[in-house]
Amino acid sequence: MIHRTIIEPFRIKSVEPIGLSTEAERVAYLKDAHYNPFLLRSRDVIIDLMTDSGTSAMSAHQWAGMMEGDEAYAGSRSWERMLAEVQDLTGMEHVLPTHQGRAAERILYGHLGGPGKVFISNTHFDTTRANIEFTGATAIDIPIAEGRDPALQHPFKGNMDVAELDHLLKEHKGKVGAVILTVTNNSGGGQPVSMANAEGVAAICKRHCVPLLLDCCRIAENSWFIQHREEEMKELSYRGIAQRLFALADGAIMSAKKDALVNMGGFLSLRDAALAEACINLLIITEGFTTYGGLSGRDMEAIAIGLQEVFDPHYLDYRIRSTTFVGEKLHRLGVPLMRPIGGHAVYIDAKALYPQIPPDQYPGQALVCELYKLGGIRSVEIGSVMFGTYLPDGSLKPSPMELVRLAIPRRVYTQSHMEYVAETFEEIMRTREKVRGYRIIKEPKFLRHFTAHFLEADSH
Ligand code: F0G
Repeated sequence: MIHRTIIEPFRIKSVEPIGLSTEAERVAYLKDAHYNPFLLRSRDVIIDLMTDSGTSAMSAHQWAGMMEGDEAYAGSRSWERMLAEVQDLTGMEHVLPTHQGRAAERILYGHLGGPGKVFISNTHFDTTRANIEFTGATAIDIPIAEGRDPALQHPFKGNMDVAELDHLLKEHKGKVGAVILTVTNNSGGGQPVSMANAEGVAAICKRHCVPLLLDCCRIAENSWFIQHREEEMKELSYRGIAQRLFALADGAIMSAKKDALVNMGGFLSLRDAALAEACINLLIITEGFTTYGGLSGRDMEAIAIGLQEVFDPHYLDYRIRSTTFVGEKLHRLGVPLMRPIGGHAVYIDAKALYPQIPPDQYPGQALVCELYKLGGIRSVEIGSVMFGTYLPDGSLKPSPMELVRLAIPRRVYTQSHMEYVAETFEEIMRTREKVRGYRIIKEPKFLRHFTAHFLEADSH
């Protein structure tokens, strides 16, 4: 018999209690947090869908590996394990361990960037863009047009616009620091990049002698989509597909907090020895010696094991299908979504959900607050709070989309948790017309979404 039900392919060996709360309590908690879920205490959250980063449950095998961690300053056995695993996966000789993805970004883009330099990506993740712009360089996003339309169906909405890439490489000849393919494309909705697109991008980069980098933190999830949606790839294993993607690139940056199934870690891998040497100098100054970077020996053990486990076909099937399960359930309720559903998250189009709320009253923030009040569910606004800027007259230049991300931690929640999320959305749909927006009453200069304070727009 072939079952319809996709079960979690694991048993639960260790549990973490969830603190339940009432709606009245949550209304008070949210007020204390200035209507910004980043300022909530995690103990007051029932289902935490803020991020899939660093929130995975490790396996018994990984926990056992932690005990094996070799904490030697130099030449650690755990480093040898992680190095061998990353080299085998990426096919790249030089590997620099870092404490998380953005540390690898700071090192690499600190070296390749600088005023006048240009970086081109399907979509730069926000820390990637920040690390590039911090050096004085410019970051340009060129997703395909289909990737900017939330409701449009397309199998590879994470793809890069190759014609535009060719054009930009000619226009900025001699100034391009690197081309970066983010797989899957997080900011663009967790959408995959096809092998054909990656090959097209690699060929153009080669022709223009520009390095191609993979931001590969969700490469196993991307490989699942390639195998299932790209006819020519269906005979390859998920790991084989990932290796083929890496073979196209000159370097890769990984936040191990995603597809390496660990709570902390990252790496930078490179083919070019001279570039690796320059980066190693920066690594030693700011992260640590070459055989641990910013990591403990036990973290490196867990990463080596996680990078194996993540390509398990049963795990990946469960992973992608359970995210789709949430998305399709919400779609059936009429919730406007980014479609098709991505790998690690479901993205809701808050502008379409709350047409009565103008962008300068932040429809995404309104949804994030409603989800917390009604269900104790924590999510993230990816819209004008995160990306909005001010025009010279003080008015808001809104973000093109007003999204809310429900990111699903790996191996953490079960189907009943997800049924609960869907049930909360039934109430979101019933009450959508009476929801009002928010205004910002306090904000820092950079990355305001983390610490801004809000008030309901019509309050005084
Ligand atoms: N690149 C991508 C595509 C990411 O999604 C992230 C992190 C990073 C780089 C940076 O890695 O956090 O280890 O420094 N994304 C998290 C998220 C924060 O919630 O999507 P990091």
